[in-house]
Amino acid sequence: MDVQTVGSAAAAAFGGPAVAVAGGVSLLFLKSFLSQGGGGGGNPNHLASVPVVPGLPVFGNLLQLKEKKPYKTFTKWAETYGPIYSIKTGATSMVVINSNDLAKEAFVTKFDSISTRNLSKALKLLSADKSMVAVSDYDDFHKTLKRNILTSFLGPTALKQHRLHRDAFSDNLSNQLYNLASNSHREAVNLRKIFQSQLLTLALKQTFGRDIESIYVTDLGTTLTRDEVFQVLVIDPIMGAIDVDWRDFFPYLSWIPNAEFETKIEQMCIRREAVMKALFQQHKKRIDSGEHLNSFIDYLLAEAQPLTEKQLLMSLWEPIIETADTTMVTTEWAMYELARNPEKQARLYDEVQSVCGSEKITEEKLCKMPYLLAVFHETLRKHSPVPLIPLRHVHENIEIGGYHVPSGTELAINIYGCNMEREVWDDPEEWKPERFVAENEQIDLHSTMAFGGGKRVCAGAMQAMLIACASIGRMVHEFEWRLKDDTGDDINTLALTTQKLNPMLAVIKPRN
Ligand code: HEM
Repeated sequence: MDVQTVGSAAAAAFGGPAVAVAGGVSLLFLKSFLSQGGGGGGNPNHLASVPVVPGLPVFGNLLQLKEKKPYKTFTKWAETYGPIYSIKTGATSMVVINSNDLAKEAFVTKFDSISTRNLSKALKLLSADKSMVAVSDYDDFHKTLKRNILTSFLGPTALKQHRLHRDAFSDNLSNQLYNLASNSHREAVNLRKIFQSQLLTLALKQTFGRDIESIYVTDLGTTLTRDEVFQVLVIDPIMGAIDVDWRDFFPYLSWIPNAEFETKIEQMCIRREAVMKALFQQHKKRIDSGEHLNSFIDYLLAEAQPLTEKQLLMSLWEPIIETADTTMVTTEWAMYELARNPEKQARLYDEVQSVCGSEKITEEKLCKMPYLLAVFHETLRKHSPVPLIPLRHVHENIEIGGYHVPSGTELAINIYGCNMEREVWDDPEEWKPERFVAENEQIDLHSTMAFGGGKRVCAGAMQAMLIACASIGRMVHEFEWRLKDDTGDDINTLALTTQKLNPMLAVIKPRN
């Protein structure tokens, strides 16, 4: 969805082009630029500087990040250098935060000094130059986009209006699982495939009022199947968002062309725009003919402040990609943990059974099931789908944790590191929903840092919670889950979020 992962980027940037080009440029030239990096303005209060992780000339710490899971490397470094330290990614100075208290300080108290972002070249293209709620700067345009998405898609009233779509999602999921369980002769079920496809249905219904089977895309001169639409609207942009242009790390070399990279991302944008235009035109015709549905496009065309065509298409695309990924990642990890921990699965089943009996689970009943909510939060803690907050740009000198952080620095908030902090969580590597179960206490939706914090906290947290919890509860209530093979805590380092590398394959048995 919405992350500029330093690490995958770093990993890919070590390759030939970066080294070759950097080698060809005189060291003196580089030095003069490096000395300007990330250090605007003075330090009038004479605060201590942030501890530095030693790196190499020119590349800084890039080569140490090549294992492609930067949030894990950052967490390991915190054991040596403390919860806040600075690194260099090429020419850029970056301060990394790995603790809950410091993250809260940055998200809330220091927000005004870190309210903008310098996007990577890929994200700049894919977000049509920040035309998305998730990556725009905190300005009037951001507020307009956010108001739109909250009013018609993600806010409490909108969530109530979209309830029938979520109920249909849950019924379809259950029906497909029953079909597979009865037909498969005990073959393993790939939950991700079904869940992702149902999330696309949900996103299209919320955005346009209807699902699709296929669509003729005039600008591409062809008809695309539903799977192809998913590829163009979700998978390609997710892969593109973490694609690396080595010039991101060496901005002073931006004058050197990198046509192959730009063409690849531009092609993705052209295809995405073509599909979004086709969907838009189909539904504009519907609306013009007088047929109105409760959908985001109906709201944007009738009630919202006018947007340009490009802004409209981006506004309609954003919740599709956001709905389709992180909720699936969380649910798959939760079901994986439950399938490999039969006694915890049994405890959850007993809870759902005692609340729902022979009836199916509904959203109203979720608050009566503390263990189910604990499963959700513990999964978000251990497997935070967005392990690093998209980088924030420090645009004026600030103090964080008593240290001086100069203007011009990039700030990385390591959510994974916060959720693994030993001072806050016992045995943080263990998946233990019990840690969130307390007598007579409601669990705060933001009890982990998984949704970020402050003014830019995730706008879709409530939708994600409703879908994931209702699905997990229903799947465990109706089926017994067992792993076919335990593939371990494997993570796909090429994806934008921490999705499992190998989809969970489970053998399921209806309980009745
Ligand atoms: C488990 C699921 C999810 C997780 C863990 C998650 C996590 C996050 C995180 C970490 C941020 C960044 C906060 C920041 O920049 O400080 C974010 C922002 C955002 N998310 Fe989510 N997200 C999830 C689901 C969703 C869903 C389902 C939607 C919409 C359909 C959504 C929409 C957004 C939006 C619009 C923003 C930008 C908010 C702003 O900048 O004001 N998210 N999310």
